[in-house]
Amino acid sequence: MTELVVVPDLDAMAELAVDRVSEAAAQIGAALFSLVLAGGSTPQRFHRALALRPTFPWWRTLVLFGDDRVVPPSHEDSNYRAAKASLLDRVSPAGLLRIPTEAPDPVVAAQAYEAMLTLVPGGRTSVTVLGMGEDGHTASLFPGVPVPEDRDVMAVPEPSPGLHPRVSVTDRFLERAGLVLVLVSGAAKAERLAEVLAQSRAGEGEGALPLARVLRRRAGKRTIILADEASAEHLPRGREGGEGA
Ligand code: 6PG
Repeated sequence: MTELVVVPDLDAMAELAVDRVSEAAAQIGAALFSLVLAGGSTPQRFHRALALRPTFPWWRTLVLFGDDRVVPPSHEDSNYRAAKASLLDRVSPAGLLRIPTEAPDPVVAAQAYEAMLTLVPGGRTSVTVLGMGEDGHTASLFPGVPVPEDRDVMAVPEPSPGLHPRVSVTDRFLERAGLVLVLVSGAAKAERLAEVLAQSRAGEGEGALPLARVLRRRAGKRTIILADEASAEHLPRGREGGEGA
């Protein structure tokens, strides 16, 4: 089920996301906890807040990435570089699976990362954080770009004009994931978020936006959308507070 929680701002979003991730880690006792990070700007405050949570069990946490741009890990557009600055340089996770974006080409990088994912117990990650672009993309799953059904990781050579090639987890990976947290902020995303939620409730149907596809496929799983007031502007009121979206 998709749960929508509307929060006042990014600080509140960050704290609530840290609470949900911490709860998920606590629920599995001393088992290995796997946390998939998203790229973009919205999660950065969440990363900094998570680094400050003293009780978070980093000693049993494996950090992964949902997608990255095919640039060197030191490149200013690298999701890994951003997460390194906002989180990874401040904590000591038991393990880190970075998408090898310096590989000779996106296909090779995607194949290598898919092989790394076999290290995740049961092939199912504990918590996966996602964002949403203004076009309804999530991770690096973009509108109109076919997604293989037989892979957990794909190369995205040309996401859209002017964007770096990317490597991304697929719908199949996200369907199987444990808790998914979607962080959405900003008025520029308000119409699209309303469209995504409407599409996700419409059941089957061609041409759904990537995030709507993922929400549909996860109908039986727990997905929490944390949206700030600005991005929730076009949503039916009274849905916040954790009711089904
Ligand atoms: C990326 C992200 C992407 C991101 C959205 C939202 O590599 O860019 O994985 O899916 O989550 O584009 O980005 P913002 O949070 O910057 O709006």
